[in-house]
Amino acid sequence: MKILITGGAGFIGSAVVRHFSRDYGFGIINLDKLTYAGNLSSVESVSNLPNYIFEHHDICDEAIVDRIFKAHKPDAVIHLAAESHVDRSIDGPAPFLETNVRGTFTLLECARSYWCGLPDSAREKFRFLHVSTDEVYGALGAVGQFTENSQYRPNSPYAASKAAADHFARAWYHTYELPVIVTNCSNNYGPFQFPEKMIPTMILAGLEERQLPVYGDGKNIRDWLHVEDHAAALYCILSKGAPGEVYNIGGEAERQNIEVVEGICDVLDSLIPNGNFASYRDLIRFVPDRPGHDYRYSVSCDKLKSELGWNPSRSFEEGLTQTVSWYLENRDWWQSIQKRYDGRRQGLG
Ligand code: NAD
Ligand code: DAU
Repeated sequence: MKILITGGAGFIGSAVVRHFSRDYGFGIINLDKLTYAGNLSSVESVSNLPNYIFEHHDICDEAIVDRIFKAHKPDAVIHLAAESHVDRSIDGPAPFLETNVRGTFTLLECARSYWCGLPDSAREKFRFLHVSTDEVYGALGAVGQFTENSQYRPNSPYAASKAAADHFARAWYHTYELPVIVTNCSNNYGPFQFPEKMIPTMILAGLEERQLPVYGDGKNIRDWLHVEDHAAALYCILSKGAPGEVYNIGGEAERQNIEVVEGICDVLDSLIPNGNFASYRDLIRFVPDRPGHDYRYSVSCDKLKSELGWNPSRSFEEGLTQTVSWYLENRDWWQSIQKRYDGRRQGLG
């Protein structure tokens, strides 16, 4: 099986590329523009495999995407390429419209044109997996969960762009019968995450004895899923999911941000105690809140569990310890990013 993966040099995309090429032996075509978030060293461990090909291009370039479909003849697409950071979308929403909406549209159109020309049996088996986010559903109060039937209420420019892309994906199934499946996943964490996101921001700040910037009162809640469990869920959905369906993916690990940050501090205290302070918790600082900060996300993944048999494979505490250890042991990876990214506060508008 040959899969066109967009955004395969990013955080989640690279986990999918590594697993699908190494563990499942799929042919991989990694289509990535290498924006600030793309990093080929995240896929270095598989880039010499004979079943791996890299295409350094923009998903908005119709002629190129068309050529890639014709040249590589994929059996499926897993579409992950996106502008992914909420704070950046507050400071500059234009690239989010361009990549997340126009890029998805371009990919859907090129996939449709390619798919229409396939022989019947290949056309039936073809899948277009559109990877999206729980943020399209907006914010929850203290109770309740997002389900596949929750209303779309995107609050940030990022969430709005992903919601628009989801609607295009849905329409291409209903109108043209392109075998599209949409997934909406909660917050991912794990190795190779760009250090603008909350968990690596805190780990690196701790390691460098800088302040740990918690937005607002730290009581906002996210539902955390290890990136490798997300990759396993995408494999399960690609193999067994039905075209036209939506599957929510969540970690069943709701935590307040302050709990996550304190958890990181506790892991750092046990792995590399620092004589300059009693605990890394001493570095925590509450800073001005993100504008329009969604209060709580919580994803019900009952459908994915009961219909397709997927389950997260590790606890959040286990995954967090593994993640902190990974950043400790892979300083070269993030120090090379720090040469071009200064970690300055984003998203104040
Ligand atoms: P990321 O920012 O780490 O990676 C995005 C990748 O897409 C990068 O390699 C980048 O170079 C590439 N890219 C960006 N614009 C492109 C373009 N125009 N053409 C080709 N490539 C381009 O993102 P991520 O965190 O790995 O997220 C991947 C996908 O999963 C996104 O669609 C995101 O919305 C979704 N998602 C992310 C999370 C999360 O917690 N990170 C949760 C749910 C869903
Ligand atoms: O829910 C899925 C979404 O999760 C994905 O679709 C997005 O691509 C991904 O970036 C993520 O969005 P969040 O905004 O939830 O993630 P982020 O890591 O930016 O922030 C997590 C929480 O931590 C959020 O409540 C804001 C807070 N935060 C973030 C940063 C960067 C802080 O308190 N301090 C920080 O320095």
